[in-house]
Amino acid sequence: MSALSPDTAAFAPAFDPLVPHPLHVRNPYHVYAQLREHAPMYRSPHGVWIASRHSEVSFMLKDAHFGRGYFYFENMSKRLGPGIVDQPVYASARNMMVMKDGEDHLRVRNAVARGFSHKRIEAMRPFMRSVMSDLVDAALKKTAFDVMLDLAFPLPSAVICHLIGIPEQDWPKFSRRSANGSRALEPAPLSPLELFEQNRAVNEAHAYFQWLIELRRREPGDDLTSLLIAAEADGLITRAETIDNLRMMFVGGQETTVNTIGNGLLALYRHPDQLRALKSDMALLPDAVTEMVRYDSAVQMTPRQAREDIEVAGASIKAGETILCIVASANRDSAAWPEAESFDISRRNSYPLSFGGGPHYCLGAQLGQVETEVALQTIFERLPDLKPEIDNPRWLPGTVVFRGLQSLPATA
Ligand code: HEM
Repeated sequence: MSALSPDTAAFAPAFDPLVPHPLHVRNPYHVYAQLREHAPMYRSPHGVWIASRHSEVSFMLKDAHFGRGYFYFENMSKRLGPGIVDQPVYASARNMMVMKDGEDHLRVRNAVARGFSHKRIEAMRPFMRSVMSDLVDAALKKTAFDVMLDLAFPLPSAVICHLIGIPEQDWPKFSRRSANGSRALEPAPLSPLELFEQNRAVNEAHAYFQWLIELRRREPGDDLTSLLIAAEADGLITRAETIDNLRMMFVGGQETTVNTIGNGLLALYRHPDQLRALKSDMALLPDAVTEMVRYDSAVQMTPRQAREDIEVAGASIKAGETILCIVASANRDSAAWPEAESFDISRRNSYPLSFGGGPHYCLGAQLGQVETEVALQTIFERLPDLKPEIDNPRWLPGTVVFRGLQSLPATA
């Protein structure tokens, strides 16, 4: 179908990425199905393209005509005024690999990737098990607890602190759920108060990481900060890039993993047959995690900007225009998966787009998946009678990019 077909021109989905509606937050999948059917390349009234089918999303994530950073800051200045990009939160984002393209992106990504080898991540399993086990011990001391707050949230922050080499006494500084900076990645502009708070969090993080770099220079360890100090010495990365990409670990790796665990548990407990199948054969765990990630992705969309004028599925995209690639919708496209709307942990060789694609494919994908495996394994072993309240769960409000539960009360 062409983006300019009469159907598409008349189509007005109940979805505005700049104004997240509570009904959309609760269940975005009806709107995605309508978008795929009626307007797979939909130009929103704000001029942002919304891509919802697997074929176009997959193409634009990977194709070199598209990037993440080429026009991002230029577009933002046009939309929100020229001073905006000098605000600490956006000046910091400019140094992060996720906002870079081409050679510059590759240089920074290669430096940080030194901390993400397959071996290094597998070696973190015993640490993750011990963190989860302590969390379960603490939860069991309560009569009722919150799966999100007591079990899902603390694991990724402990893992990132461990990965980066933050001394253990400082870990509580990094465990506040709202302070991780992912709100700045939402399309809706920050309110003045949010901007103030984000700037303050960035300034605090900068001071802390500056201190941590000095510590690791004196006392190097087997951690990402020490690896980046060595990469600086090799001329691969600047000091400002080191600091902002350490911060990127929290922006990209905390809320995403928390919500992967939460959304996945919700899907499993809402499908008791699948839960039983998994518990009776834990060899299914890696495929089950992939299905959890596909079925209800913690990251619903990721942006691209066209580097030059280009036509995609009948849509004429101009250089500099932004496309929101709705990976969560692409994951439910029946052209890519049979029975795509159903949750089925027996799927094999399934490659959801929840971790993006192309040069920006999530650097922490393996880490996030291993954390989710360990969280589930520990919960099944230690809390076999867990009863989460799966009816009417509370979703995080005001977000269209990230999707996750605010709380999931449970008894053991
Ligand atoms: C398990 C849950 C996770 C999900 C669903 C997720 C999802 C994503 C997505 C959609 C992107 C953008 C990709 C694109 O635009 O093509 C991304 C990028 C990234 N993620 Fe993740 N992520 C997860 C966990 C993590 C973890 C645990 C870390 C690190 C501690 C991490 C670090 C990054 C980094 C550094 C990037 C930027 C890569 C680049 O631009 O080259 N992520 N992630």
